[in-house]
Amino acid sequence: MYYGEFGGQYVPEELKKELTIIEKAFNKLKNDSEFKNKYLYYLENYVGRPSPLYFAKNLTDYASGAKIYLKREDLNHTGAHKINNTIGQILVAKHLNKTHVIAETGAGQHGVATATACSLFNMKCSIFMGVEDIKRQKVNVEKIKLLGADVIPVKTGTGTLKEAVDEAFKFFLKNKDVYYLVGSAVGPSPYPEMVKFFQEIIGKEAKEQILKKEGKLPKAIIACVGGGSNSIGLFSSFLGEKSVEIYGVEGAGKGINTGKHACAIVNNTVGILHGMKTYVMENTDGSIKEAYSISAGLDYPGIGPEHAYLHKIKRVIYKSVTDEEAVNAFKLLTRLEGIIPALESSHAIAYGLKIAKNYKKEDNIIINLSGRGDKDVETVLNIKK
Ligand SMILES: Cc1ncc(COP(=O)(O)O)c(C=O)c1O
Repeated sequence: MYYGEFGGQYVPEELKKELTIIEKAFNKLKNDSEFKNKYLYYLENYVGRPSPLYFAKNLTDYASGAKIYLKREDLNHTGAHKINNTIGQILVAKHLNKTHVIAETGAGQHGVATATACSLFNMKCSIFMGVEDIKRQKVNVEKIKLLGADVIPVKTGTGTLKEAVDEAFKFFLKNKDVYYLVGSAVGPSPYPEMVKFFQEIIGKEAKEQILKKEGKLPKAIIACVGGGSNSIGLFSSFLGEKSVEIYGVEGAGKGINTGKHACAIVNNTVGILHGMKTYVMENTDGSIKEAYSISAGLDYPGIGPEHAYLHKIKRVIYKSVTDEEAVNAFKLLTRLEGIIPALESSHAIAYGLKIAKNYKKEDNIIINLSGRGDKDVETVLNIKK
């Protein structure tokens, strides 16, 4: 599937055959009420959905503008939005009679969510993870192992998320019996559509909840963007609501000007990455630049193809937040609300705080709190003063 000029399936013929099998299965299952009921059963009874839409009064008083609501994906089982997608895709894998699931992970959240779903459905599980991410997300690595999955360290390049995806695709190409459970709205078709489908629950719930609590739509919604799954999940129900401003927040790392960042959209360079056509961070010779962000889940040099399209048509506004701003938001939310956010989500909090004052007190905005920050406590404590 293409989103304007973006998306597609830029992969070897061998892989196309596998993707076609997955695509056919997904297209059948997404309209199958038995499949949908099973997926929703696990979301309710295992994940703990619906996740609350919480009015953050202290944060609102601090920002002194619109009422700030937090969509609490951090309260899901395993601590982030990633589990919505892994439950959906593992049911697709089961339908295809696969017995071995592989996945990439950056922050470890998708690795934990995949290993968890594999325990639940009794599947063999292997997680590809860059060596740099293994260091900074130690707790999640131990959890993945406890859940019975193998962690396969990826040493190439920067040893982060891009290389983990590279290696997972290579393994998938060589081993047709495995199912590659992609963790974000990226990669060749049908992954971006499939991941969006399983994350749309965030937006559906948020819209229903805000209308019930406030009787009106939010003025703005904000989510962080790594590959773009929590964001597309929240945005999906609001894209058609013209009055709602939509913001995606990428990791500006040490600052855009330093070159050490993870903003795929900022240079307007379109290229091919992980089987999709999208905005990528490219060197002048066309090679992929190293991405950098303090947050492992945002440390990715591309962006999902639907986001590329939404940027091009100007429906979503993409902004960025530095490491420093994100860490300040991490500390602030912890102190003001007693909620420790993931460093990824802290980027959305930081940007939400910046714009809240642009609205009136009777307005409301929604920030997606995509995950909890237990995994990031050590990183934050290790920051040199
Ligand atoms: C808590 C959390 N939020 C956000 C992200 C970014 O991913 P995505 O853009 O696919 O939502 C991650 C990725 O690991 C994550 O763990």
